[in-house]
Amino acid sequence: ESSPLKFDGRVVLITGAGGGLGKGYALMFGKLGAKVVVNDLGKNREGIMLADLVVKEIKSHGGEAFANYDSVENGEAIIESIIKKYGRIDVIVNNAGILRDKSFAKMSDQDWELVYKVHIYGTYKITKAAWPHMMKQNYGRIINTSSAVGLYGNFGQANYSTAKAGILGLSTSLAQEGKRNNILVNVIAPNAGTAMTATILPQEVVDMLKPDYVAPLVGFLGHESNQHCGSVFEVGSGWFAQVHWQRSGGYRLDTSRAVSVEDVAANWTKFNSFDGKVDYPKNAQESFSSIVAMLASGGKASKSAGSGSSFEFTK
Ligand code: NAI
Repeated sequence: ESSPLKFDGRVVLITGAGGGLGKGYALMFGKLGAKVVVNDLGKNREGIMLADLVVKEIKSHGGEAFANYDSVENGEAIIESIIKKYGRIDVIVNNAGILRDKSFAKMSDQDWELVYKVHIYGTYKITKAAWPHMMKQNYGRIINTSSAVGLYGNFGQANYSTAKAGILGLSTSLAQEGKRNNILVNVIAPNAGTAMTATILPQEVVDMLKPDYVAPLVGFLGHESNQHCGSVFEVGSGWFAQVHWQRSGGYRLDTSRAVSVEDVAANWTKFNSFDGKVDYPKNAQESFSSIVAMLASGGKASKSAGSGSSFEFTK
């Protein structure tokens, strides 16, 4: 048995932690000894704040927690209240989310805007307010929440897909900026049976997708022993996987003469082939450096039939 990964002295903020996945994370961090900040603006049918109920549950297990009811759009106020209470912020799980599913033809500006505001603007505001504290501490762990819909797209979710892909973009850049200050940012695309999915999934599937099966990855990524940064994970039902980009080997047209639209058409399958040489750029530098290397070598690594060349990427 491995030694327990504890969070004693660590202050952990989970947004949207009044229910679903966020509640699962909050209960887990509470059990692992963290000081848990349970943020959620929602109420139950009796009008009781969801965050209060989760705080009560954490405390009933002997944990330490406090509730915050602000919208994530007010990130500054949320972080300020945490600093005032605990003097630091170590781990953030940007989890709050909403859906406004409509086919694109029927989507209103309001549907677009609201989803943008909670997911992207909320994640931005929370992270932006916490960032200087984490830089000063030389410590931070941030777990941002994307979705398979953000990675791959989905019918009827153009607003949500945009927001979740935006969170991915924010996270991959912050991962590169934060690393030097030991602020490690990672992304999860979870699957869970929650209020958000209960209406679209059958009960047996919901039962297999307990938030408790996602929480351990969030715990691991949030722990000081984690050194992963800038990675994207799909997780649910006890299944864990990493996702990254794959780029086709590509094909460079002969530029000693004008490159035409017809050249593109004629070489389409060569540009797009994933057979043979492929590449996995992890950041913009890696994406560009292999292209520069190819150009420096004259782009003629392996001259093939026709008016172009395929080339080896340097890793
Ligand atoms: P949920 O609907 O059960 O919980 C979301 C919580 O966020 C709610 O308690 C809600 O009151 C709160 N919230 C909404 N707007 C807020 C705001 N402006 N400020 C503070 N809190 C706010 O949803 P679930 O399923 O637990 O989702 C959690 C996260 O995981 C979301 O970001 C969601 O997009 C993402 N996700 C969930 C999937 C799933 O299968 N359940 C799939 C992919 C992504």
